[in-house]
Amino acid sequence: MASSSSSSVVPAKAPSMSWTARIAMAILTAATDLACRRNGTVNRRLLSVLDDSVPANPTPSRGVRTVDFTVDASRGLWFRLFIPSTPPADSSPLPMVVFFHGGGFAFLSAASRAYDAVCRRFARKLPAVVASVNYRLAPEHKCPAPYADGLDVLRFLDENGGGSPDIALADLSSTFLVGDSAGGNIVHHVARRWAGAGGWKSLKLAGLVVIQPYFGGEERTESELRLTKAPLVSVPRTDWLWRAFLPEGADRDHEACNVFGPNDTKELEEGYPPAMVVVGGWDPLKDWQRRYAEGLRRRGKEVRLVEYGEAPHAFYVFPDSKEGGIFLEEMKDFIHSHAHGSNH
Ligand SMILES: *[C@@H]1O[C@H](CO)[C@@H](O)[C@H](O)[C@H]1NC(C)=O
Ligand SMILES: *[C@@H]1O[C@H](CO)[C@@H](O)[C@H](O)[C@H]1NC(C)=O
Repeated sequence: MASSSSSSVVPAKAPSMSWTARIAMAILTAATDLACRRNGTVNRRLLSVLDDSVPANPTPSRGVRTVDFTVDASRGLWFRLFIPSTPPADSSPLPMVVFFHGGGFAFLSAASRAYDAVCRRFARKLPAVVASVNYRLAPEHKCPAPYADGLDVLRFLDENGGGSPDIALADLSSTFLVGDSAGGNIVHHVARRWAGAGGWKSLKLAGLVVIQPYFGGEERTESELRLTKAPLVSVPRTDWLWRAFLPEGADRDHEACNVFGPNDTKELEEGYPPAMVVVGGWDPLKDWQRRYAEGLRRRGKEVRLVEYGEAPHAFYVFPDSKEGGIFLEEMKDFIHSHAHGSNH
């Protein structure tokens, strides 16, 4: 299963993915290609037809109920809270997971059916209270909008947590940031802002789970050049998305993208928490992801690097993949060993 370091594993043929996963990935790839216009805008009307959304549901379904919280209506900032309907047998408080969905900073939402299902699964299986952040999207809202939104959700939880019996089910001193793809990138930047901000009442970041994060740079890495047949991610797509997200005039060596690249001069903040970094062998972004883990290590941070040899980008969204099941166990172990009061 997972190894902490290995040379690049490139599967000779397409990894074994279920037909449902293949079809879902093909549809998502085609839909995003159609929605990304040449003039740099996104066809939101087309996406709203293709992105299947589900409302919050106060009636427990698959052991979890959901409630939406508005943080700032003026910019459409809200999060969906996933609450396990059966509390743990030993009545220990649940960790708080603040989740950031993927979608290249430009697509999907906290209400997208696939991410609603992912968060429901996390809430039930970890178990944890999960807050899935509906951050603003590019190109309408560029860098650093989602980082600011993420930090504001942490502030909201810290300040209003006591007033909501649902949020109060979580132990905010065991808060974990979790995200995949662009959400993984957001996790890193929100963690830095949290550590730099101060003035927190009870919210403490106990760890980060950074799943196949979307990082990049001007350089083309070996995996970007070689894995041209992988689903979802390709160099033309990621270039388009970086242009949509990065500030006008910035190139991909901007520190939002190339986090430990030429424009990074700062050390990481003192309180930057331990991280679990997840890499898939069939993901063109894997070289950037390994460099990220290496960069954290060089800065003295604790890193658990987990690699799945044949996994494509977004593999864990599909619960029937073998690696998806193994990943969930690994994440559970990481959270339990870093939660407040664990004898880690
Ligand atoms: C981009 O193209 C779309 C569709 O052709 C058009 O509606 C939109 O106004 C254009 N936007 C800009 C900024 O050029
Ligand atoms: C980052 O560094 C590169 C190369 O040193 C430079 O070309 C680029 O303009 C810089 N970008 C920013 C945002 O500072």
